[in-house]
Amino acid sequence: MKKIKLIVTTTFGLEAVVKKELIVFGFDQFIVSDGKIEFDSDINDIPKLNIGLRTADRVLIKIGEFKAADFDALFDQTKACPWNDWITENGKITVIGKSVKSVLKSVRANQSIVKKAIIKKMQATFNKERFSEDGPEFVVQISILKDIVQLTLDTSGAGLHKRGYRVDTGDVPIKENLAAALVLLSSWHKNKLLIDPTCGSGTILIEAAMIGRNIAPGLKRHFMAEDWPAIDNKFWREGRDSALKAVHPSGNLRIFGYDIDQKRITGCQINAKNAGVGEDVIFKHQDIKDLEIVHENGMVISNPPYGVKMLREKDLAYIYDAMNAIFKNKPEWEFYIITADKKFPNCFKRGKPGKVRKLYNGTIETNYYQYRKK
Ligand SMILES: C[S@@+](CC[C@H](N)C(=O)[O-])C[C@H]1O[C@@H](n2cnc3c(N)ncnc32)[C@H](O)[C@@H]1O
Repeated sequence: MKKIKLIVTTTFGLEAVVKKELIVFGFDQFIVSDGKIEFDSDINDIPKLNIGLRTADRVLIKIGEFKAADFDALFDQTKACPWNDWITENGKITVIGKSVKSVLKSVRANQSIVKKAIIKKMQATFNKERFSEDGPEFVVQISILKDIVQLTLDTSGAGLHKRGYRVDTGDVPIKENLAAALVLLSSWHKNKLLIDPTCGSGTILIEAAMIGRNIAPGLKRHFMAEDWPAIDNKFWREGRDSALKAVHPSGNLRIFGYDIDQKRITGCQINAKNAGVGEDVIFKHQDIKDLEIVHENGMVISNPPYGVKMLREKDLAYIYDAMNAIFKNKPEWEFYIITADKKFPNCFKRGKPGKVRKLYNGTIETNYYQYRKK
C-alpha cells in the first residue's frame, strides 16, 4: 500500500478533539499545529477518513514541504514534487494559497508560479504542451509560514461539515463538525437523556443521534478525490460498506429538541430524516418558558440565541430566566452551553462552570461553558 502523509485540518481550538478521533481510527505519531494535524498513512485511509471524521474540516495530502524565499526556489521545488502520482492528464488544476510572515507574500504571484511549475512537470510526464483541464478537479493549497512552503492536495472538496443532510438552517446555524465536537467534548453517551431547548435547525441533536447510532457523517456525500484514478474505487466502496455495517439500529436514544419558531421545527424534522435519524430525535414547537422537565437526570447541550445580531438584551434575559426557573430544582442535570454572550455565566444560576473552552462558530468567537452535576 502506498505510504503518504496526510494533513487533517480543523477549526482553531478543535485540534485535540480531531486528534482523539484519529487515535480511534488507529493512527499515532502526530505533528499538531494550529488548525492542522499531520501523520503517516496509506492511500486507502483517504476514503475512510473523509467518510468517518466528525469534527475535522478537510483531509489533505501533503505533496511537499521546503524553504523558499524567492520565485526560482518556489518554482524548482514545486516542479520536483510528485504531482504525477495524482494529477491526471486532463486534470483541472486550481491553486489557492496563503502566506504569513514570509518573503513571498503575494498570494497571487505564488499561485501563478506554482501552477506553472505543476504544468511544467506535467509537460515532461505526458510529453505534451497543452492540457484540456476538463477532467477531475485537483485543488492545490500553498501554505507559506516563515518562508516554509507546504503544498497539499485537497481530497475532500466541500468542507467535511457539509454532510448533505441540512436543508433548513435558520439564522445562525452552527456548523455540523462543531456541533459534533460539542457532543464529543461533553459527557453525553447514548443512554443519557439529551435536550436542546433552542435547537434552531437541530444540528447538535442530529449530530448526537448520529454519534449514538454510529452513523458515519460522510456516508451520503461525494468527495473530490472520488474522481481521481489514483485512488481505486474499491477503497471508497469498502469505506462506505464498513461504515454502513457499523451503524447501530434505531430505537434506544432519548433526544429532544425545541424551538419557538415552527419553521425551524419543520426544518429539523426534514434534516433529521435526511441524516437517517428521523426516528431518533423528537422535535417540538415550544417556547423555552413552557418547557417542563420531569426527569431528575439529563443533559442540555445548546447554542442559545447569541445576541450578536439575533436578540436584544431583554430577550436574552428571557431565555436565561426561563432556564434558571426550569432547572432550579434539578441538581443532577448537566449543561453544555456555547454562546458569544460573555454575560452568560453571570446570568445562569448554576455556580461557576467546571470548564470554559474558547471555540469559533465560523468567525464568531464563542465560549463553551461546561457545568457538571451540582
Ligand atoms: C442560535 S440559534 C440555534 C442554532 C442551532 N444550534 C443550529 O445549529 O441551527 C437559537 C434558536 O433559538 C430559538 N429561540 C429564540 N427564542 C426562543 C425561545 N423563547 N424559546 C425557544 N427557542 C427560542 C430561535 O428560534 C433560534 O432558532
